[in-house]
Amino acid sequence: MRTQVCIIGGGPSGLLLSQLLHKKGIDSVVLERKTKDYVLGRIRAGILETGMVDLMREAGVGERMDRECIVHDGTVISYGDEEFRIDFTELTGSHVVVYGQTEVTRDLYEAREKAEGKIVFNVENVQIKDADSDAPYVTYEVDGTEARIDCDFVAGCDGFHGVSRQTMPLSVRKEYEKLYPFGWLGILSETPPVHDELIYASSERGFALCSQRNANLSRYYIQCSLSDSPEDWTDAAFWEELKRRIPTEAAERLVTGPSIEKSIAPLRSFVTEPMRWGRLFLCGDAAHIVPPTGAKGLNTAASDIHYLYNGLVQYYQTGDSEGIDTYSEKALARIWKAERFSWWMTTLLHRFPDQNEFDLKIQLADIEFLRSNRDAQSVLAQNYIGLPY
Ligand code: FAD
Ligand code: DHB
Repeated sequence: MRTQVCIIGGGPSGLLLSQLLHKKGIDSVVLERKTKDYVLGRIRAGILETGMVDLMREAGVGERMDRECIVHDGTVISYGDEEFRIDFTELTGSHVVVYGQTEVTRDLYEAREKAEGKIVFNVENVQIKDADSDAPYVTYEVDGTEARIDCDFVAGCDGFHGVSRQTMPLSVRKEYEKLYPFGWLGILSETPPVHDELIYASSERGFALCSQRNANLSRYYIQCSLSDSPEDWTDAAFWEELKRRIPTEAAERLVTGPSIEKSIAPLRSFVTEPMRWGRLFLCGDAAHIVPPTGAKGLNTAASDIHYLYNGLVQYYQTGDSEGIDTYSEKALARIWKAERFSWWMTTLLHRFPDQNEFDLKIQLADIEFLRSNRDAQSVLAQNYIGLPY
């Protein structure tokens, strides 16, 4: 088989790139290790920056999102029983929207299927060959049969545990990593959200986040120990712990119910440089991970796709490789700022096991400065709504 762009990974990055390229008449094949249902069953991000919203519209998949998403003009930050609001719209003129990654992925799959785009599921043993030559190709197995795709370019959209990053020799890539000594335990429940905006809560017992998907679907997270597993937490224990970490008045109106999903994610900051090797480009989680505080994971994947998509279109339409040649540099410049923001928000709001009383006072001073200083709020708001592409 031959295609112009072979895309490894059928998560949001790979699907979005494939759909955008299709709109410009550029052919691609997506290779996905899992089934479609498995990919759609993963509950992940929930907040989209307007840059990503625009990209979804450009890809022709904005219709349901525009109808069903919820605009958020601000967010609440609480510490103990104190709380304040960051007004994104007043501070930046922009906002974010609530629209789950599951919905983004569902819309993209639907569009790819409608356009008869080629997606191969259940692929195994994917190998990227001759990426540093003019004639790269990808081999894989499906149902025990080996197959080969020849292509002009390979887009590595296969997440943190994928094969694309590992294909780049260690001599050409450098990895930067920071692990955090805690995770997030998240639940999804068919209950009305406790508040119409998100609440990022710092407390003596650790961080909590009240998020949502729609008027009757809530997403809540609590900071947990890395040694915890979801089975350790009954629904009752989760709700009890959440209530102790958010302001009393919010805890009193919290509607609880059975969880329909419960999972733990470790927190990590990670960047690999460069994001290109020959004709192989890394996008999204394959190249970088942020801790989830600040909702940047999916949004940074989208900005990578924006740069790569525009570079590929420029190449195919004019023969000019400037866009793809500067891909890594442009993507990384934005990524590092999102890394900084996510690290800062994580550090601001979580309890770290080794914090002493001095550290706690500094953390409190940081929060109180944010509460009282419009410029500090503006810095948070600009980063939260998303830095320009
Ligand atoms: P992925 O979504 O990881 O997609 C990669 C795809 O490639 C997968 O479908 C995978 O099956 C496939 N694949 C992997 N290896 C291979 C291979 N060898 N061959 C073929 N296919 C392969 N972000 C937020 O902003 N907020 C959140 O609350 C949040 N929660 C998260 C919770 C978890 C548990 C995780 C892991 C991430 C979370 N994120 C969150 C981050 C966000 O979901 C990711 O940034 C986003 O999914 C990145 O999209 P992606 O397409 O680059 O990678
Ligand atoms: C969600 C996750 C986040 O990490 C975040 O900062 C905001 C919202 C969510 O899953 O809804």
